[in-house]
Amino acid sequence: MSAAPKPEILAAFEAAKGFMPRHEGLALYAAATEAGRLGLPLLEVGTYCGRSTILLADAARAAGVTALTVDHHRGSEEQQPGWDYHDPDTVDPALGLMDTLPAFRRTLHTAGLEDHVVALVGRSPQIAKIWGTPLGFVFIDGGHTDAHASADYEGWAPHVADGGLLLIHDVFPDPKDEFTGQAPYRVYLRALESGAFTEVSATDSLRVLRRTGAGI
Ligand SMILES: C[S@@+](CC[C@H](N)C(=O)[O-])C[C@H]1O[C@@H](n2cnc3c(N)ncnc32)[C@H](O)[C@@H]1O
Repeated sequence: MSAAPKPEILAAFEAAKGFMPRHEGLALYAAATEAGRLGLPLLEVGTYCGRSTILLADAARAAGVTALTVDHHRGSEEQQPGWDYHDPDTVDPALGLMDTLPAFRRTLHTAGLEDHVVALVGRSPQIAKIWGTPLGFVFIDGGHTDAHASADYEGWAPHVADGGLLLIHDVFPDPKDEFTGQAPYRVYLRALESGAFTEVSATDSLRVLRRTGAGI
């Protein structure tokens, strides 16, 4: 049976601002728990306000590893003012720019998970370029343009250890289902076509792949 979060963790996840539905969250948690057995850090790209981070953090706590979460906290294209996914509460009034870092910190503190997470604040490709530690789990949920999704794959997938998991969110094979573009789907196909990753599971738009070969 797959690992499931305790009710208080699930409640914190559901109370947090964010985009991931409960059933995908449960699949994310089960994958993070499994990957935690490798004893390596778990990393996500796309923190936003910490909704999915709660699940990674709790799985990391149970495994005795660290969860890492990458975001510049200025929001993706579709979250900017005037777009469908904009939340005015995420704007820093002093700057007039989105800043999701304060909400993220509140979310983690309230859930009692601060000690299990390292937040990497900056642009994903810039951090990936200087990264040197193997990872047991990489969850890609950052920018949804082709440029961003490809850069996230090229930056972070090489760090997935042998037997580790690569997760991609918002994979929509049918264009009529997508709401932020099909770039994550194209990255998912690329990962499979590379021969380095094999599909483990699909839960709606969340795909779980395992590294079964070298390269990307
Ligand atoms: C879809 S949201 C993440 C949702 C979150 N995982 C959740 O479950 O609520 C995408 C996030 O990626 C961040 N992002 C987009 N492009 C980025 C980049 N190039 N580097 C770092 N963060 C980026 C945005 O700031 C945004 O917070």
